[in-house]
Amino acid sequence: MADRGYTVASLPGDGIGPEVVAEARKAVDAASARFGFRVDWVDYDLGADRYLRTGEVLPDTVLKELGEVDAILLGAVGRPDVAPGVLERGLLLKLRFELDLYINLRPVRLYPGVPSVLAGKGPQDVDMLVVRENTEGPYVGAGGSAHRGRPAEMAIETSLNSRAGVERCVRFAAGKAAQRDGRLTLVHKTNVLTHSGDLWMRTAREVADQAGVRLDYCHVDAACLYLISDPGRFDVIVTDNLFGDILTDVGAAIAGGLGTAASANLNPGGPGGSAGAGGSAGAGGSDRPVPSLFEPVHGSAPDIAGTGRASPIAAVLSAGLMLDHLGEHQAAAALEQVVIAVLPGAAGYSTEEIGDQIAVAVPREVSA
Ligand code: IPM
Ligand code: MN
Repeated sequence: MADRGYTVASLPGDGIGPEVVAEARKAVDAASARFGFRVDWVDYDLGADRYLRTGEVLPDTVLKELGEVDAILLGAVGRPDVAPGVLERGLLLKLRFELDLYINLRPVRLYPGVPSVLAGKGPQDVDMLVVRENTEGPYVGAGGSAHRGRPAEMAIETSLNSRAGVERCVRFAAGKAAQRDGRLTLVHKTNVLTHSGDLWMRTAREVADQAGVRLDYCHVDAACLYLISDPGRFDVIVTDNLFGDILTDVGAAIAGGLGTAASANLNPGGPGGSAGAGGSAGAGGSDRPVPSLFEPVHGSAPDIAGTGRASPIAAVLSAGLMLDHLGEHQAAAALEQVVIAVLPGAAGYSTEEIGDQIAVAVPREVSA
Protein backbone atom coordinates (compact mmCIF):
# COMPACT_ATOMS: atom_id res chain seq x y z
CA MET A 1 0.00 0.00 0.00
CA ALA A 2 1.37 3.40 -0.96
CA ASP A 3 2.22 5.52 2.04
CA ARG A 4 1.74 8.76 0.10
CA GLY A 5 -1.98 9.33 -0.18
CA TYR A 6 -4.17 12.29 -1.09
CA THR A 7 -7.87 12.97 -0.76
CA VAL A 8 -9.05 14.85 -3.82
CA ALA A 9 -12.51 16.36 -4.22
CA SER A 10 -13.88 15.87 -7.72
CA LEU A 11 -16.26 18.62 -8.86
CA PRO A 12 -17.07 17.87 -12.50
CA GLY A 13 -19.74 20.59 -12.65
CA ASP A 14 -21.59 21.43 -15.84
CA GLY A 15 -21.50 20.94 -19.60
CA ILE A 16 -18.30 19.28 -20.74
CA GLY A 17 -16.96 19.36 -17.16
CA PRO A 18 -17.90 15.75 -16.29
CA GLU A 19 -16.50 14.43 -19.60
CA VAL A 20 -13.09 16.05 -19.21
CA VAL A 21 -12.81 15.39 -15.48
CA ALA A 22 -13.43 11.68 -16.07
CA GLU A 23 -10.40 11.58 -18.39
CA ALA A 24 -8.25 13.66 -16.04
CA ARG A 25 -9.05 11.21 -13.25
CA LYS A 26 -7.99 8.29 -15.43
CA ALA A 27 -4.68 10.03 -16.06
CA VAL A 28 -4.15 10.71 -12.34
CA ASP A 29 -5.04 7.13 -11.44
CA ALA A 30 -2.56 5.83 -14.03
CA ALA A 31 0.12 8.17 -12.66
CA SER A 32 -0.58 7.19 -9.06
CA ALA A 33 -0.33 3.48 -9.87
CA ARG A 34 2.98 4.00 -11.66
CA PHE A 35 4.57 6.42 -9.22
CA GLY A 36 3.47 4.72 -6.03
CA PHE A 37 1.00 7.03 -4.38
CA ARG A 38 -2.72 6.79 -3.67
CA VAL A 39 -5.51 9.18 -4.62
CA ASP A 40 -8.88 8.87 -2.92
CA TRP A 41 -11.54 10.68 -4.91
CA VAL A 42 -14.55 12.21 -3.21
CA ASP A 43 -17.39 13.05 -5.59
CA TYR A 44 -19.43 16.24 -5.36
CA ASP A 45 -22.47 16.97 -7.53
CA LEU A 46 -22.25 20.76 -7.30
CA GLY A 47 -23.38 22.68 -10.37
CA ALA A 48 -26.45 23.51 -12.42
CA ASP A 49 -28.31 20.21 -11.90
CA ARG A 50 -28.13 20.37 -8.13
CA TYR A 51 -29.00 24.06 -8.12
CA LEU A 52 -32.07 23.59 -10.32
CA ARG A 53 -33.16 20.56 -8.28
CA THR A 54 -32.57 21.90 -4.76
CA GLY A 55 -31.73 25.60 -4.96
CA GLU A 56 -28.33 24.86 -3.42
CA VAL A 57 -25.14 26.21 -4.97
CA LEU A 58 -22.51 25.63 -2.29
CA PRO A 59 -23.98 24.71 1.09
CA ASP A 60 -21.85 25.62 4.13
CA THR A 61 -21.51 21.98 5.12
CA VAL A 62 -20.02 21.15 1.71
CA LEU A 63 -17.72 24.18 1.84
CA LYS A 64 -16.45 22.94 5.18
CA GLU A 65 -15.79 19.46 3.79
CA LEU A 66 -13.99 20.91 0.78
CA GLY A 67 -11.78 22.90 3.13
CA GLU A 68 -10.49 19.63 4.57
CA VAL A 69 -9.38 17.74 1.45
CA ASP A 70 -5.86 17.88 -0.01
CA ALA A 71 -6.90 19.29 -3.39
CA ILE A 72 -9.94 20.02 -5.54
CA LEU A 73 -10.28 19.16 -9.23
CA LEU A 74 -13.02 21.12 -10.96
CA GLY A 75 -14.41 20.73 -14.50
CA ALA A 76 -16.51 23.76 -15.40
CA VAL A 77 -19.45 25.71 -14.05
CA GLY A 78 -22.30 27.50 -15.80
CA ARG A 79 -25.21 26.58 -18.01
CA PRO A 80 -27.51 28.69 -20.19
CA ASP A 81 -30.61 27.77 -18.17
CA VAL A 82 -29.13 29.25 -14.98
CA ALA A 83 -28.87 33.04 -14.71
CA PRO A 84 -25.31 34.35 -15.33
CA GLY A 85 -23.38 34.72 -12.10
CA VAL A 86 -25.39 32.34 -9.92
CA LEU A 87 -22.96 29.44 -10.28
CA GLU A 88 -19.90 31.49 -11.24
CA ARG A 89 -20.15 33.69 -8.16
CA GLY A 90 -21.88 31.22 -5.87
CA LEU A 91 -19.58 28.28 -6.54
CA LEU A 92 -16.30 29.08 -8.31
CA LEU A 93 -15.65 32.56 -6.94
CA LYS A 94 -16.93 31.55 -3.51
CA LEU A 95 -14.40 28.72 -3.41
CA ARG A 96 -11.61 31.06 -4.55
CA PHE A 97 -12.51 33.61 -1.87
CA GLU A 98 -13.41 31.32 1.03
CA LEU A 99 -10.35 29.12 0.60
CA ASP A 100 -8.26 32.24 -0.02
CA LEU A 101 -6.88 30.86 -3.29
CA TYR A 102 -5.12 34.12 -3.98
CA ILE A 103 -3.01 32.97 -6.93
CA ASN A 104 -4.42 31.91 -10.27
CA LEU A 105 -1.46 30.37 -12.03
CA ARG A 106 -1.94 29.95 -15.76
CA PRO A 107 0.89 28.57 -17.87
CA VAL A 108 0.77 29.73 -21.49
CA ARG A 109 2.81 27.25 -23.42
CA LEU A 110 2.65 26.26 -27.07
CA TYR A 111 3.54 22.57 -27.21
CA PRO A 112 5.55 21.14 -30.11
CA GLY A 113 3.46 19.96 -33.04
CA VAL A 114 0.46 22.08 -32.09
CA PRO A 115 -0.47 24.60 -34.75
CA SER A 116 -0.42 28.18 -33.51
CA VAL A 117 -2.69 30.90 -34.80
CA LEU A 118 0.44 33.07 -34.94
CA ALA A 119 2.22 32.81 -38.27
CA GLY A 120 5.88 32.01 -37.87
CA LYS A 121 5.78 31.49 -34.09
CA GLY A 122 6.68 28.22 -32.42
CA PRO A 123 7.11 26.69 -28.97
CA GLN A 124 10.24 28.76 -28.27
CA ASP A 125 8.21 31.99 -28.63
CA VAL A 126 5.22 31.05 -26.50
CA ASP A 127 6.30 29.80 -23.08
CA MET A 128 5.22 31.94 -20.15
CA LEU A 129 3.45 31.91 -16.82
CA VAL A 130 0.64 34.29 -16.02
CA VAL A 131 0.17 34.94 -12.30
CA ARG A 132 -3.30 36.37 -11.91
CA GLU A 133 -4.40 37.86 -8.59
CA ASN A 134 -7.42 35.78 -7.65
CA THR A 135 -9.26 37.27 -4.66
CA GLU A 136 -9.50 41.03 -5.26
CA GLY A 137 -9.97 43.59 -8.06
CA PRO A 138 -13.42 44.06 -9.55
CA TYR A 139 -14.25 40.43 -8.70
CA VAL A 140 -15.02 41.14 -5.04
CA GLY A 141 -18.59 42.19 -5.78
CA ALA A 142 -18.31 45.58 -4.11
CA GLY A 143 -20.80 47.90 -5.73
CA GLY A 144 -24.43 48.41 -6.37
CA SER A 145 -26.97 49.95 -8.63
CA ALA A 146 -29.74 52.50 -8.36
CA HIS A 147 -32.78 53.59 -10.33
CA ARG A 148 -32.86 50.31 -12.22
CA GLY A 149 -34.81 50.53 -15.48
CA ARG A 150 -35.15 54.31 -15.30
CA PRO A 151 -33.25 56.88 -17.37
CA ALA A 152 -31.15 57.79 -14.33
CA GLU A 153 -30.09 54.19 -13.80
CA MET A 154 -26.52 53.71 -12.62
CA ALA A 155 -24.24 50.90 -11.54
CA ILE A 156 -20.95 50.88 -9.66
CA GLU A 157 -18.51 47.98 -9.61
CA THR A 158 -15.56 48.80 -7.41
CA SER A 159 -12.10 47.32 -7.84
CA LEU A 160 -10.54 46.45 -4.51
CA ASN A 161 -6.74 46.36 -4.24
CA SER A 162 -5.15 45.89 -0.85
CA ARG A 163 -1.45 46.31 -0.21
CA ALA A 164 -1.37 42.88 1.45
CA GLY A 165 -3.28 41.26 -1.41
CA VAL A 166 -1.12 42.81 -4.12
CA GLU A 167 2.09 42.10 -2.25
CA ARG A 168 1.50 38.39 -1.66
CA CYS A 169 0.59 37.98 -5.33
CA VAL A 170 3.64 39.83 -6.64
CA ARG A 171 5.84 37.97 -4.16
CA PHE A 172 4.65 34.63 -5.53
CA ALA A 173 5.22 35.81 -9.11
CA ALA A 174 8.69 37.11 -8.31
CA GLY A 175 9.52 33.72 -6.80
CA LYS A 176 8.49 32.03 -10.05
CA ALA A 177 10.54 34.54 -12.06
CA ALA A 178 13.58 33.84 -9.92
CA GLN A 179 13.22 30.10 -10.72
CA ARG A 180 12.92 30.83 -14.45
CA ASP A 181 14.93 33.52 -16.22
CA GLY A 182 14.68 36.31 -13.65
CA ARG A 183 12.26 38.54 -15.57
CA LEU A 184 8.90 39.67 -14.27
CA THR A 185 6.43 41.82 -16.19
CA LEU A 186 3.74 43.74 -14.36
CA VAL A 187 0.68 44.25 -16.54
CA HIS A 188 -1.74 46.99 -15.47
CA LYS A 189 -3.21 50.25 -16.72
CA THR A 190 -1.27 52.73 -14.61
CA ASN A 191 -1.88 55.58 -17.06
CA VAL A 192 -5.61 55.57 -16.33
CA LEU A 193 -6.18 53.54 -13.17
CA THR A 194 -3.78 55.76 -11.28
CA HIS A 195 -4.88 54.82 -7.75
CA SER A 196 -4.60 51.05 -7.99
CA GLY A 197 -1.86 51.32 -10.62
CA ASP A 198 0.36 53.25 -8.25
CA LEU A 199 -0.15 50.64 -5.53
CA TRP A 200 0.67 47.77 -7.90
CA MET A 201 3.68 49.58 -9.37
CA ARG A 202 5.30 50.55 -6.06
CA THR A 203 4.66 47.12 -4.60
CA ALA A 204 6.04 45.34 -7.65
CA ARG A 205 9.19 47.51 -7.63
CA GLU A 206 9.86 46.79 -3.96
CA VAL A 207 9.16 43.08 -4.20
CA ALA A 208 11.15 42.61 -7.42
CA ASP A 209 14.08 44.42 -5.84
CA GLN A 210 14.01 42.21 -2.78
CA ALA A 211 13.70 39.07 -4.91
CA GLY A 212 16.51 40.16 -7.24
CA VAL A 213 14.42 39.90 -10.41
CA ARG A 214 14.18 42.42 -13.23
CA LEU A 215 10.83 44.19 -13.41
CA ASP A 216 9.32 45.25 -16.72
CA TYR A 217 6.01 47.00 -17.07
CA CYS A 218 3.38 46.84 -19.82
CA HIS A 219 -0.07 48.44 -20.08
CA VAL A 220 -2.77 45.81 -20.48
CA ASP A 221 -3.88 46.99 -23.92
CA ALA A 222 -0.32 46.85 -25.20
CA ALA A 223 0.13 43.47 -23.52
CA CYS A 224 -2.78 42.10 -25.59
CA LEU A 225 -1.07 43.41 -28.71
CA TYR A 226 2.37 42.02 -27.78
CA LEU A 227 0.98 38.62 -26.80
CA ILE A 228 0.02 38.32 -30.45
CA SER A 229 2.79 40.25 -32.21
CA ASP A 230 5.77 39.45 -29.97
CA PRO A 231 4.91 36.82 -27.31
CA GLY A 232 8.58 35.99 -26.75
CA ARG A 233 9.01 39.21 -24.77
CA PHE A 234 7.05 37.73 -21.85
CA ASP A 235 8.18 35.13 -19.36
CA VAL A 236 6.38 35.64 -16.03
CA ILE A 237 3.48 38.10 -16.05
CA VAL A 238 1.83 39.33 -12.86
CA THR A 239 -1.47 41.15 -13.09
CA ASP A 240 -4.77 41.92 -11.42
CA ASN A 241 -7.80 39.64 -11.41
CA LEU A 242 -9.74 41.05 -14.37
CA PHE A 243 -6.74 41.82 -16.57
CA GLY A 244 -5.51 38.29 -15.86
CA ASP A 245 -8.87 36.81 -16.83
CA ILE A 246 -8.78 38.56 -20.19
CA LEU A 247 -5.06 38.10 -20.90
CA THR A 248 -5.19 34.36 -20.28
CA ASP A 249 -7.90 33.87 -22.88
CA VAL A 250 -5.60 35.61 -25.35
CA GLY A 251 -2.83 33.41 -23.98
CA ALA A 252 -4.91 30.30 -24.60
CA ALA A 253 -5.57 31.40 -28.18
CA ILE A 254 -1.87 31.77 -29.00
CA ALA A 255 -0.97 28.50 -27.27
CA GLY A 256 -3.17 26.26 -29.39
CA GLY A 257 -6.60 27.11 -28.01
CA LEU A 258 -8.67 26.63 -24.87
CA GLY A 259 -8.39 22.87 -25.29
CA THR A 260 -4.94 22.89 -23.72
CA ALA A 261 -5.08 25.82 -21.24
CA ALA A 262 -4.69 24.68 -17.62
CA SER A 263 -4.92 26.59 -14.37
CA ALA A 264 -4.19 26.30 -10.68
CA ASN A 265 -6.03 28.34 -8.06
CA LEU A 266 -3.48 28.27 -5.29
CA ASN A 267 -3.24 28.96 -1.65
CA PRO A 268 0.53 28.52 -1.62
CA GLY A 269 0.46 27.72 2.10
CA GLY A 270 -1.83 24.70 1.67
CA PRO A 271 -0.93 21.00 1.40
CA GLY A 272 2.10 20.59 -0.82
CA GLY A 273 2.72 24.33 -0.87
CA SER A 274 5.77 25.89 0.68
CA ALA A 275 3.98 26.69 3.92
CA GLY A 276 5.08 30.16 4.83
CA ALA A 277 3.93 33.07 6.88
CA GLY A 278 0.46 34.14 5.90
CA GLY A 279 0.20 31.24 3.47
CA SER A 280 -2.99 29.69 4.67
CA ALA A 281 -6.24 30.99 5.99
CA GLY A 282 -8.73 28.21 6.30
CA ALA A 283 -12.45 28.49 5.55
CA GLY A 284 -13.23 29.25 9.23
CA GLY A 285 -10.21 31.40 9.80
CA SER A 286 -8.28 28.51 11.38
CA ASP A 287 -4.58 27.97 10.79
CA ARG A 288 -5.12 24.58 9.18
CA PRO A 289 -3.73 24.45 5.64
CA VAL A 290 -6.38 24.71 2.94
CA PRO A 291 -6.53 22.88 -0.38
CA SER A 292 -5.87 24.44 -3.76
CA LEU A 293 -8.20 24.09 -6.71
CA PHE A 294 -7.28 23.02 -10.23
CA GLU A 295 -9.40 23.61 -13.32
CA PRO A 296 -9.13 23.98 -17.07
CA VAL A 297 -9.39 27.59 -18.25
CA HIS A 298 -12.21 26.65 -20.63
CA GLY A 299 -15.83 26.90 -19.58
CA SER A 300 -18.67 24.41 -19.70
CA ALA A 301 -19.07 24.71 -23.51
CA PRO A 302 -22.75 23.65 -23.49
CA ASP A 303 -22.81 23.65 -27.30
CA ILE A 304 -20.53 20.62 -27.51
CA ALA A 305 -21.45 18.91 -24.22
CA GLY A 306 -22.25 15.25 -24.76
CA THR A 307 -20.80 15.12 -28.27
CA GLY A 308 -17.44 13.63 -27.28
CA ARG A 309 -15.67 16.49 -29.02
CA ALA A 310 -14.28 18.28 -25.97
CA SER A 311 -10.54 17.98 -25.50
CA PRO A 312 -9.65 16.57 -22.09
CA ILE A 313 -6.08 17.88 -22.41
CA ALA A 314 -6.62 21.08 -20.41
CA ALA A 315 -8.20 19.07 -17.58
CA VAL A 316 -5.35 16.54 -17.69
CA LEU A 317 -2.74 19.32 -17.58
CA SER A 318 -4.63 20.95 -14.68
CA ALA A 319 -4.52 17.61 -12.86
CA GLY A 320 -0.79 17.62 -13.59
CA LEU A 321 -0.48 21.02 -11.91
CA MET A 322 -2.34 19.48 -8.98
CA LEU A 323 0.09 16.58 -8.68
CA ASP A 324 2.99 19.00 -8.87
CA HIS A 325 1.48 21.13 -6.10
CA LEU A 326 0.95 18.05 -3.94
CA GLY A 327 4.66 17.28 -4.30
CA GLU A 328 4.34 14.46 -6.86
CA HIS A 329 6.75 16.20 -9.22
CA GLN A 330 7.78 13.09 -11.14
CA ALA A 331 4.20 12.07 -11.81
CA ALA A 332 3.36 15.63 -12.85
CA ALA A 333 6.29 15.73 -15.28
CA ALA A 334 5.26 12.33 -16.64
CA LEU A 335 1.73 13.56 -17.34
CA GLU A 336 3.04 16.58 -19.20
CA GLN A 337 5.39 14.38 -21.20
CA VAL A 338 2.54 12.12 -22.24
CA VAL A 339 0.40 15.06 -23.21
CA ILE A 340 3.23 16.40 -25.38
CA ALA A 341 3.48 13.00 -27.07
CA VAL A 342 -0.27 12.56 -27.63
CA LEU A 343 -1.21 16.13 -28.49
CA PRO A 344 0.01 16.45 -32.10
CA GLY A 345 -2.14 13.48 -33.15
CA ALA A 346 -5.11 14.20 -30.93
CA ALA A 347 -7.33 15.93 -33.48
CA GLY A 348 -10.00 13.58 -34.74
CA TYR A 349 -10.17 11.50 -31.57
CA SER A 350 -12.99 11.67 -29.04
CA THR A 351 -12.66 12.95 -25.47
CA GLU A 352 -12.53 9.37 -24.18
CA GLU A 353 -10.10 8.13 -26.84
CA ILE A 354 -7.64 10.91 -26.01
CA GLY A 355 -8.05 10.15 -22.31
CA ASP A 356 -7.38 6.46 -22.91
CA GLN A 357 -4.29 7.20 -24.99
CA ILE A 358 -2.94 9.36 -22.18
CA ALA A 359 -3.75 6.89 -19.39
CA VAL A 360 -2.13 4.00 -21.24
CA ALA A 361 1.00 5.96 -22.11
CA VAL A 362 1.84 7.41 -18.66
CA PRO A 363 5.41 6.14 -18.19
CA ARG A 364 6.89 4.65 -15.03
CA GLU A 365 9.67 7.18 -15.06
CA VAL A 366 10.26 10.56 -16.60
CA SER A 367 12.75 10.54 -19.43
CA ALA A 368 15.58 13.05 -19.16
C1 IPM B 1 -11.99 31.95 -15.52
C2 IPM B 1 -13.47 32.16 -15.76
C3 IPM B 1 -14.10 32.70 -14.48
C4 IPM B 1 -13.45 34.02 -14.17
C5 IPM B 1 -15.63 32.82 -14.53
C6 IPM B 1 -16.29 31.50 -14.90
C7 IPM B 1 -16.18 33.33 -13.22
O1 IPM B 1 -13.67 33.00 -16.83
O2 IPM B 1 -11.66 31.17 -14.61
O3 IPM B 1 -11.19 32.54 -16.23
O4 IPM B 1 -13.88 35.07 -14.69
O5 IPM B 1 -12.51 34.03 -13.38
MN1 MN C 1 -11.84 33.56 -17.88
